[in-house]
Amino acid sequence: MSERPVSFSLPRFWHGGDYNPEQWWETPEVWQEDLRLMQLAGINEVSVAIFAWSSLEPEEGRFEFDWLDQLMDRMADHQIDVVLATPTGARPVWLAERYPEVLRVGADRQRNLFGERHNHCYTSPQYRRLSQRMNRALAERYGRHPALKLWHLSNEYGGECHCDLCQSAFRQWLQQRYGSLDRLNHAWWTRFWGHTYASWDQIESPSPRGTGSLHGLSLDWKRFVTDQTLDFMRSEIEPLRALAPDIPVTTNFMGTYPGLNYWKFAKDLDVISWDSYPRWHASGSDVDLAAQVAFTHDLNRSLKCGHPFLLMESTPSVTNWQAVSKLKRPGMHLLSSLQAVAHGADSVQYFQWRKSRGGSEKFHGAVVDHAGHENTRVFRDVQQVAAALKSINQAVGSQIDAKVAVLYDWENRWALEGAFGPRVEHRDYQPTVEAHYRPFWDQGIAADVIDMDQDFSRYRLIVAPMLYMVRDGVSARLEEFVKAGGTLVLTYWSGIVDDSDLCFLGGAPGPLRALAGVWSEEIDALNDDDVNHLVLESENPLGLSGSYACHLFCERIHPETATVLAHFASDFYAGEPALTVNDVGRGHVYYVAARTEPSFLNDFYRMLSHHLGLPTALAKAPPPGVSVEVRHKEGVEWVFVMNFSEQIRTVDIGSTTCEDLLSAQTVSGNLRLDPYGVAVLQRTKGR
Ligand code: GLA
Ligand code: ZN
Repeated sequence: MSERPVSFSLPRFWHGGDYNPEQWWETPEVWQEDLRLMQLAGINEVSVAIFAWSSLEPEEGRFEFDWLDQLMDRMADHQIDVVLATPTGARPVWLAERYPEVLRVGADRQRNLFGERHNHCYTSPQYRRLSQRMNRALAERYGRHPALKLWHLSNEYGGECHCDLCQSAFRQWLQQRYGSLDRLNHAWWTRFWGHTYASWDQIESPSPRGTGSLHGLSLDWKRFVTDQTLDFMRSEIEPLRALAPDIPVTTNFMGTYPGLNYWKFAKDLDVISWDSYPRWHASGSDVDLAAQVAFTHDLNRSLKCGHPFLLMESTPSVTNWQAVSKLKRPGMHLLSSLQAVAHGADSVQYFQWRKSRGGSEKFHGAVVDHAGHENTRVFRDVQQVAAALKSINQAVGSQIDAKVAVLYDWENRWALEGAFGPRVEHRDYQPTVEAHYRPFWDQGIAADVIDMDQDFSRYRLIVAPMLYMVRDGVSARLEEFVKAGGTLVLTYWSGIVDDSDLCFLGGAPGPLRALAGVWSEEIDALNDDDVNHLVLESENPLGLSGSYACHLFCERIHPETATVLAHFASDFYAGEPALTVNDVGRGHVYYVAARTEPSFLNDFYRMLSHHLGLPTALAKAPPPGVSVEVRHKEGVEWVFVMNFSEQIRTVDIGSTTCEDLLSAQTVSGNLRLDPYGVAVLQRTKGR
């Protein structure tokens, strides 16, 4: 399927979320009251029917649409947009009873009983047939309904199935990929522990009762799970696009969920959406958490090349599944909602509108509590978000320009985390990428989060921490990027394996060696409390000085064409290079040979950003804990200034007077933000 042009755009920010009126089937007065409360809360969107299959098709082939007809009409009458789900996230009991093949089989080869949700086989022809029939019925009935604005495919696709149907689909997938068993045996290095396969039928998915040590197999299985889930999603989309071609589609992602490579899904969707549930006020700092959430927002925005995404779910108060369900402190609801918008979301949507009365989510936060009225703190917080979105409405559809890309790649993560060594614990791919992203967040420099298959030419700086796997063609594309004047930052534990998880021969970092200008001879894994230091050479061109602590990983590298900028302080490799730069064409490649303390990354990227003249949101860097993001459209910029710290912060926003749309006040110079305070400044582009 080829990529569809981005056609999704909203005339106003959406403010709404999951609405499950079928749970209130027996109490029509609740439906009535919902409408009154929605108006009061400033809700203009609802996501419905997500888990409603058994209410829509209570028996095989017998559809009950009356309730949904009523609902759709009421929403249209009240100018509330509907995001209509395909209800495939949870199947009715009759379906599981009649077609047991739809129930998922675990890696231990045990078939699940009916129950829960997301418990179905993506391969099962019966599940596909019945899902398609349901989707066709929905598209026929509501495809032209004025309330319908977007399809919500299933819910949080995820998990995997190891049933016989999936095994044979996996084997076919492998045949397509490798063509011959010889090629497969080579790619998986199957002579290791005598695993050589003589027929396709002998191949099984990884299992705790079977094989887990052929990393090539494990990697291909994960790729297959992504492709098979994607194939299922396409089968869901097919009737929707055939019958309602003007209605865009999305599915709600789960951030950096490790089980699926979301890059593969992005092309088939009209708009990206994701469910964000940060645990605010947990034992760590809210500022650190905010930076991590920002990273995931940026990833979701990058999935569609910077086009707006939707915050499909967030909690208006607490979740019930986190270790501790701490209430959001005053201000945090508005702040965290606007953070999503600041990073490119065109909506703030909740799970859920009305709190369930029973079931495992009866204590999950909702806009309307069991008390059933509007006189609650949470309801007022939600009203405040509605007002804020209204005041910044002009910003809907605006975009973000990033000149920095941080590379976060699913397959790289799978390969790196699936391998054993050089340490078992704390390889920490994602936290490491986030640590390299953090200095940009701190400085108010917009960053995209991309994988290694994306277009590099849009950026001036690419940061690729732990690029362990280098897929075919990637080093050539990176070289092209650098030669044309780009700057690339590489680190230790890079250029180790190819697409098939086979180690590169001839010296690390494999295909990146010429680019980095170093040969990495070996990597030292440090004990948890071991420390080495990276000591800057005097008069290095970056203008950095002093020394920084290194933990966990130190690599012994030999410069080939690179210049040494820092060396290790201690151990038997004291004096050997710890940081190098290599000039390639018009650009530069840095190689950071150790995992450093955050202050090194902070100082290093500040200097680099300065040298490269990367655009910052404000002329002066914001104080600690304050994040600044800029969206722009048609010559206007909206500057989101967000204080995630628990202290009052003063932010120098420059001398030009502009309006804070939230407070409707003109501001210039020093902007004072309360703890968890936020302002949205409107200014002309090019200030
Ligand atoms: C997920 C699901 C929702 C709900 C929330 C609760 O994101 O998609 O249906 O269960 O979690 O936080
Ligand atoms: Zn299956």
